Amino acid sequence: MRPDGVLLLDGDLGSGKTVLAQGIATGLGIDRSEVQSPTFTVVREHSGPGGRLIHADLYRLAAEEVDSIGLDELLAGPGVKVVEWADRLPFELPGALRLRLTRLAEGQREIRRMATTNSLP
Ligand SMILES: Nc1ncnc2c1ncn2[C@@H]1O[C@H](COP(=O)(O)OP(=O)(O)OP(=O)(O)O)[C@@H](O)[C@H]1O
Ligand SMILES: [Mg+2]
Repeated sequence: MRPDGVLLLDGDLGSGKTVLAQGIATGLGIDRSEVQSPTFTVVREHSGPGGRLIHADLYRLAAEEVDSIGLDELLAGPGVKVVEWADRLPFELPGALRLRLTRLAEGQREIRRMATTNSLP
């Protein structure tokens, strides 16, 4: 990933999206326990010696909320941006790195790099 890059994560519940975001937080010197799947917060910002982490979880995002939370600006701004449930993002992000996570078995995950297009029309 580039220092200001966007990482789009797709995969079922429990496939490991937040754990991967926590690993990235660790790499930026941020306490990994700060990075969670919040119940009602769509986007959280964390700051560490290695830079800023924007962590978004779109699972509960309603279509009408998209504009009001300014996601497009946040994702274009500084810092590493990690988006869980990225297939709910209603716009394209050329240049983003997109990964699909799959639970294979207890303690085993597949992480596959995908083309950066959304499944939404
Ligand atoms: N790479 C991995 N290898 C093995 N086990 C993992 C891995 N990533 C996550 N897990 C296990 O799966 C559990 C769920 O992971 P995590 O919370 O990151 O999933 P998630 O994709 O963020 O789920 P949600 O969609 O509910 O937010 C973790 O608590 C951990 O036990
Ligand atoms: Mg999660």
